[in-house]
Amino acid sequence: MFEVIKTEGRARRGVFTCAHGTVQTPVFMNVGTQGAIKGAVSAHDLAEIGCQIELSNTYHLHLRPGDEVVRDLGGLHRFMDWKGPILTDSGGFQVFSLSGLRKITEEGVTFASHIDGRRIFMGPEESMRIQSHLGSDVAMAFDECVANPATYEYVKPSCERTYRWLVRCKEEHERLNAQPGAVNPHQMLFGINQGGTYPDLRVWHMDEIAKLDCDGYAIGGLAVGEETQVMYDIIDAVEPHMPADKPRYLMGVGTPSNIIEGVARGVDFFDCVMPARNARHAKLFTWEGAMNIKNEKYKLDERPIDPNCGCPACRSFSRAYLRHLFVAGEMLAMRLAVLHNLWFYNELTARIRQALDQGCFQAFRHMYSQKLDGRI
Ligand code: GUN
Ligand code: ZN
Repeated sequence: MFEVIKTEGRARRGVFTCAHGTVQTPVFMNVGTQGAIKGAVSAHDLAEIGCQIELSNTYHLHLRPGDEVVRDLGGLHRFMDWKGPILTDSGGFQVFSLSGLRKITEEGVTFASHIDGRRIFMGPEESMRIQSHLGSDVAMAFDECVANPATYEYVKPSCERTYRWLVRCKEEHERLNAQPGAVNPHQMLFGINQGGTYPDLRVWHMDEIAKLDCDGYAIGGLAVGEETQVMYDIIDAVEPHMPADKPRYLMGVGTPSNIIEGVARGVDFFDCVMPARNARHAKLFTWEGAMNIKNEKYKLDERPIDPNCGCPACRSFSRAYLRHLFVAGEMLAMRLAVLHNLWFYNELTARIRQALDQGCFQAFRHMYSQKLDGRI
């Protein structure tokens, strides 16, 4: 269930309810690809850093440990001991970004596992079955994510096929939810808009998938090689065609500024590996801009990473200590940095929600959109 409780321009403040709880939107989903957040962060840590909803991957968990193993152990919630909402991505992105040789047919995709090269087939029905075994709250449709730039001649038949795959996803999803013994019989299904950088294909595809009455809609195939402005233009073109009463999810995006600009364009859900990945490379977000904690200038700096941050790293440790941990190659460096950056992203969306509640989102956008992607 999704309810928009307030709007400011196209920005929406909403409440999303699923089998494992309620999510206040706009929201950032913390990424635990294989059932853990990279950087030695557990589901228990997530609860402590303000995470409302976690994202895991069909592709990875199917290859290892196997989705049937997760099902037999009671589903992903129990496996990783996360009691809140989980969204699983369909494999439609990872199959294209991670696997080796692949062949796409009407049926689905045959690809080589990035772990051992084994040949694997995944189509809409397989993806739905895997996500059903995982028991996530939201399953994503199986799609083809086309990297930009791509020709019109390639993208048009691809997004037509992604439409037909969604029809199959929907049918299989309904069948699986109704089966006795389903891990989560209340699992929802979100459709994914594709169409590359071509507004006419995007709009055609969005209009078609909107008719299928999914529980929510995502915009995929963005932040995959195009300029930032092109991404914003595509969201501007698609958004008026997205059902207003359903949640909207911009997949794999992005920087703090991208999130603020996405909200301004009517998006409710985001996910991105950037905060965790940057943290592992010593790049930390603050309310003044990003910093590299390994920089010599922090050697004797006793201040926390960000004096305005309440995360477990900033509550106890100095920049000098964090810098030392990174330089010395201590694993604790990664963990504290990841906790800080994820806290920052969760706090960013919390402040966006607060601004929307108070009717001052445009002022918030003006104040932070440029600044947060800058450097200090
Ligand atoms: N994650 C980021 N972009 C995409 C996309 O286009 N499709 C899917 N399934 N996942 C994504
Ligand atoms: Zn912090």
